[in-house]
Amino acid sequence: NSMLSWQRTAFHFQPEKNWMNDPNGPLYYKGWYHFFYQYNPNGAVWGDIVWGHAVSRDLIHWFHLPLAMVADKWYDQKGVWTGSATILPNGEVIMLYTGATNELVQVQNLAYPSDPSDPLLIDWIKYPKNPVLFPPPGINVHDFRDPTTAWLTSQGKWRISIGSKINKTGIALVYETQDFRTFERVEGVLRAVPKVGMWECVDFYPVSTKLEKGLDTSAYGVDVKHVMKVSLDDDRHDYYTIGNYEENGADFVPDDIQNDVGIGLRYDYGIFYASKTFYDQNKERRVLWSWIGESDSEYADVTKGWASVMGIPRTVVLDKKTGSNLLQWPVEEVESLRLKSNKFENLKAMPGSVVSLDIETATQLDIVAEFEIDKEAIEKTDQTNEEYNCKTSGGAAHRGALGPFGLLVLANDGLSEYTPIYFYVVKGNDGNLKTSFCSDQSRSSLATDVDKSVFGSFVPVLENEKLSLRILVDHSIVESFAQGGRTTVTSRVYPTRAIYGDAKLFLFNNATEATVTASLKVWQMNSAFIKPFSPEQRS
Ligand code: FRU
Repeated sequence: NSMLSWQRTAFHFQPEKNWMNDPNGPLYYKGWYHFFYQYNPNGAVWGDIVWGHAVSRDLIHWFHLPLAMVADKWYDQKGVWTGSATILPNGEVIMLYTGATNELVQVQNLAYPSDPSDPLLIDWIKYPKNPVLFPPPGINVHDFRDPTTAWLTSQGKWRISIGSKINKTGIALVYETQDFRTFERVEGVLRAVPKVGMWECVDFYPVSTKLEKGLDTSAYGVDVKHVMKVSLDDDRHDYYTIGNYEENGADFVPDDIQNDVGIGLRYDYGIFYASKTFYDQNKERRVLWSWIGESDSEYADVTKGWASVMGIPRTVVLDKKTGSNLLQWPVEEVESLRLKSNKFENLKAMPGSVVSLDIETATQLDIVAEFEIDKEAIEKTDQTNEEYNCKTSGGAAHRGALGPFGLLVLANDGLSEYTPIYFYVVKGNDGNLKTSFCSDQSRSSLATDVDKSVFGSFVPVLENEKLSLRILVDHSIVESFAQGGRTTVTSRVYPTRAIYGDAKLFLFNNATEATVTASLKVWQMNSAFIKPFSPEQRS
């Protein structure tokens, strides 16, 4: 079926077939980026989980390697579940992962490379005395999983965190170890938030308040803040909070107590779950990986024979301008896929207009765009204080004085299918503007068995900043970044008409009062190679 095969991505990481979920144990080792992932070798739905493995020189082109770990021990017989890597100061690689035992008890296990001189880390040994950790008293045996990368204390001990819950309170437990074989529970929790349910895939890492580079996971002290991320099993979204880590007591204290009544900010307001960062010592940056699931039907997944892609890895840094959010941006290596480009300067889009952008094909794109709203319209409008919400305000069809405007991606000429990625600006009674950034799937496909919701949230726009966005389009995934990555939205879209040569790109302005001026650069993107490893690639 050509419609279904069109949906396969060209430069996002995917296994050759079947189901994939969480990123596991990402690391850089002897010249290669290693990527492991939750994988079902037997089908396109979740189950029979083992660890897939791939390597890359640049985080974009990948070689598939044999499965790194399979379910061959009593302590991981029902699944080799999510885990993280730690590189010790002597270069040793430690892998900790959750096993679902033959009785579905969640335990933590240790594994390490059988041949550390092999840059490809093909063979893994499971520690003979696994499990190294059982659920502690008071914790349900089904609520104890996904160990983090370890970080060092000033006493030279390693700490890890493991997600859990008590009743409806999400918690992050902390353990200390010297050898990754025996562990001791640190009293209390790293963090707890009532009413949110089970915490999966905890991630805990430092960010610099001064530098643009990333920090090793053990960094602690002056000019360092910490980020705590949890994946909420109950609502399937990833939330992060910025704060301070107190080594004494192993306590994370969020900066914004107001925010903490909730749980934090979303990394991404679309489809984005079970994410994990690693410190890339090669380029001194922190890189974020995320599992992007499908939003079509399970039936369609089984028919096409695969499900899920990985988001393009993103660098994460603290936003020094706001101090209150992270900036996420596609790793620079993705730009090596840029082919020819089209430039559009100072296009004026009148209220209620759609402007076709003449580019060759529009299925693999990297788009950078800036928008300015006509100042007079902002001053003159008496439409103020509107409550706007991407999810519930009617998407790109709802018209206000100063929005929506943006781009229609994966659109066909007759506009029977299109996905608007847009800004919506509201003027407050105080004259201040409040900006939302959204992705509207309601008209993305004529198919009836796909999700058609609208995603998005607010984006901070500081004085003298233009509105800016970056969009990566790759067949069935659209990753969008506003204001340098303050707010991001990832969508899966499944057009039936706007495919192959019929996929087009448009500028639109559905505001009723404001004219918008847009400048864009649009690159065609090459496909990345993502293929089985052949021995001649070793050099
Ligand atoms: C998150 C998760 C983890 C678990 C793994 C199993 O998506 O449920 O908590 O370890 O997936 O595949």
